[in-house]
Amino acid sequence: MTEVLQVKNINKIYDGKAPFQALTNVSFMVDKGEFIAIMGPSGSGKTTLLNLISTIDRPTSGEILINGREPHKLKKAELANFRRRELGFVFQDFNLLDTLTLEENMILPLTLERTKPSMMDERVESISKKLGIHGILNKRTYEVSGGQKQRTAIARAIIHQPSLLLADEPTGNLDSKASKDVMETLQSINEKDQTTMLMVTHDPYAASYCHRVIFIKDGKLYNEIYRGTNQKVFFQQIMDVLSMLGGDGR
Ligand SMILES: Nc1ncnc2c1ncn2[C@@H]1O[C@H](COP(=O)(O)OP(=O)(O)O)[C@@H](O)[C@H]1O
Ligand SMILES: [Mg+2]
Repeated sequence: MTEVLQVKNINKIYDGKAPFQALTNVSFMVDKGEFIAIMGPSGSGKTTLLNLISTIDRPTSGEILINGREPHKLKKAELANFRRRELGFVFQDFNLLDTLTLEENMILPLTLERTKPSMMDERVESISKKLGIHGILNKRTYEVSGGQKQRTAIARAIIHQPSLLLADEPTGNLDSKASKDVMETLQSINEKDQTTMLMVTHDPYAASYCHRVIFIKDGKLYNEIYRGTNQKVFFQQIMDVLSMLGGDGR
């Protein structure tokens, strides 16, 4: 089986005085090693979808399988383990701990797994070199740039070799140079390690680094386009779909 993620006929209704259907019959598959962007106007259901995949929230109906397993069927403790081992998260605001060094932030997931120190050192060495943060590992978060913070957050997200890396607007707080830097970092990890990635973004330039962009509108799949060999052409194609979609593209 090569599908890392299977989203099957998902519906999500938020209960309340006026129940709201945020997602309707959403289905898609993601193969091992794919790098996917999810785009759509504000309120279209992107965060809802990501929360369901990351197991923060559960679907009202439908199935989500990660590596053939259904995390939503696991018990609480098993689910916590599953999430920690199988998933990696990258957030818009980095979510680093300011009192720790970059290295300490990076190894947090391994500390939780009680990994051997020699193994930790090895992983820190190879990943920090790959991400260009090897020389600043002893710095604290307030001593480094936004791009360096996000690269540290990416290092933390992949240090336990997750099956699926999930990112919510990873370039949302970065200027264009740092965004490029972070997207090139994600692309290189995807290519070298075959890490499967799913990223929500409103930034067509960031999305143009992906293999495929899935567009959602009003909680439904609207369109999906695949990248050919040319990133510039893909960027233009993404812009074209966004202009048809309307809204603010967020
Ligand atoms: N906890 C919630 N309770 C009720 N409605 C919600 C909740 N979270 C999101 N929604 C609604 O669901 C829709 C999709 O929201 P969201 O997934 O955050 O969209 P996006 O991330 O694409 O901007 C919006 O109309 C939003 O108001
Ligand atoms: Mg959102």
